[in-house]
Order: sequence, then structure tokens, then C-alpha cells
Amino acid sequence: MTERLRDLAHVSAVELYTAKPEETVDFFVRLMGLSEVRREQNSVYVHAFDDYEKFTVRITERDLPGIGLTWLRCSSAEALARRVDALEQAGMSGKWVDGDYGMGETYLCTDPDGHELGLYFETEWFEAEKKPALKNQADRFPGRGANLRRLDHVNYLAADVAAVGEFAAGQLCAQLTEQIVKDDGSPAAVWYHVTDKSYDLVWTEDWTGSRGRLHHVAFAADQRDDILKAADVCLENGIFIETGPHKHAIQQTFFLYVYEPGGNRIELANAGARLVLAPDWRPISWTPEERARGQAWGLRTIESFHTHGTPPVPAGPKA
Ligand SMILES: [Fe+2]
Repeated sequence: MTERLRDLAHVSAVELYTAKPEETVDFFVRLMGLSEVRREQNSVYVHAFDDYEKFTVRITERDLPGIGLTWLRCSSAEALARRVDALEQAGMSGKWVDGDYGMGETYLCTDPDGHELGLYFETEWFEAEKKPALKNQADRFPGRGANLRRLDHVNYLAADVAAVGEFAAGQLCAQLTEQIVKDDGSPAAVWYHVTDKSYDLVWTEDWTGSRGRLHHVAFAADQRDDILKAADVCLENGIFIETGPHKHAIQQTFFLYVYEPGGNRIELANAGARLVLAPDWRPISWTPEERARGQAWGLRTIESFHTHGTPPVPAGPKA
């Protein structure tokens, strides 16, 4: 067994593109409970109340929805240097840029599918304008909408899932926890973790064969009940609910999927107390036959789950 290096500390922030920036900001702030912390040119930065860093989502105006940069905080300056070394030795060179809001120098690169990643270590911590009651929490509990606590994971669409899986394991030191394996033995989706949570980065096969697209970004709520209340919040505010609330078979997460007003799929997730602590975890493989049984309690996977991604592309499976 290869030693599990924990050079990546966690997925710290994402950039989402939207053609309706004010509506997307309203979704995150008024309905999901994040707070606006910064505006700059065509971006608005929002922050989840238990995020120790300065921002959680950068919302950037673009003609089409999709995902921009995913920020990955490394465990130390040495860990960052090791990852940059590994990327360059694998011929996947990126470039150093000044860090975004609160972040130190950042190494920009892409996964093999073209999703932009930013690796960094130095960072400034969030400082609340009004101190929370408990000093072990970054900001005050919002008491608003879904009260989302933090970013949980990103699920990318990818044309070649096997290739991104090799990249995740080899260049990011991520560990495979679960996967869907097709009848021909190739992976259709892979769940990797870098923390003790059972997944942080996921790649799912893009049936259109397109590259660089987003399946969804997920945020954590404290309890299952918060997901049910979030469904009511979305219902009352005209937010499209795609599927759920229900429990996933894979990873067992209690979930709700909605489309924010810009069109990006957002998951509200609660994993309960589940963690993957084993350093020698044996990856779980799911067959198409097992997947056809539906989610944990039998809910069928909705068709749009296999077809909707951002940015949208012309319909039609890959040749
Ligand atoms: Fe998810």
C-alpha cells in the first residue's frame, strides 16, 4: 500500500459563473444563509458562517453558467511545493499567480479535463464584523434560510474519468473511496477524499464528451432536518428542485439538488456522522446493475441528473 500523503488540506472555495449574478448572490445570501463579504468588478464574494477563510464562493458574471477556479488549500508550504513538483514532473505545469482575496501566492493548473485548480497555503483568516457568541466559530450563525455551514465537495463532469482519477491519486494525493464501474471495467464516476470526510472531489462521466463542465457544488448543513427546511425555502422562493430530499446509496449522504438562478446545480448535503478514517480504506465499487436499484431508499435517479451540466452543451450523447 502506498502511504497516504495528506498534502491537500481541503477544498476551500469555488468560483461559479452566472449570467444572473444578482439573483445568484440573492440565492446564496438570502436563501442559503451565506454573507456577502466583497464586491470587485464583475465578482461578488460570499462566505459561509463556519468558514475560517475569507470567502467560500466567488460569484462571477459570465454569459454562461459553470465552474471557474476551485481553490485547494495545501497542508503546509512544504506540501504545496511537493504538489507543484509532482505536477511539473508529470508534465502538467501551471503558473504562479497572486492569490485571490485573502489567499497567498497560488499555483494555477488544471485537471486533465480542463477544470481550473488553484493550490496555495498562505491565507488570511476571516474576521467577523460582529463577533459570534462562541469564539470557535468564524461568523455569527445566520439564522436565515438554509443556514449552510460550509462548502462540502465539488462534483465535476469529465470526458475521461479514468484519466482524472489517476491525476487525483497521483498529483493531488487524494484517496479513492467509492466508484461506479461500468461493465467494461472502466470507471463512470469516482469519489476521492483528501480529508476525513468520505469525499471531497468527485468526477462523473460527461455523457456529451465535453470537457471542463460542472455537475454540482455541495454545501453542508448541520442536520438532515435542515435539508428538509431548505427544500421548503427553495419551494417558497421559486428555486427549481431537481431531486430529493433523499439518501444516496453511494456515500450515504442525505441530499437535495436544486438549480441556483444562474443554472448551476447545487447540492445541500448532510453526511451524518460518517467519516472514512481508515488509512488503507478499500474502495467500494458499484455496478450499473446496483445503480439501477436507485438511491438508498429506492428513489430512482432522475434523468436530468445524467444530462444537466454547466455550461450547457447541445443535447446528444458522445459518438
Ligand atoms: Fe454530491
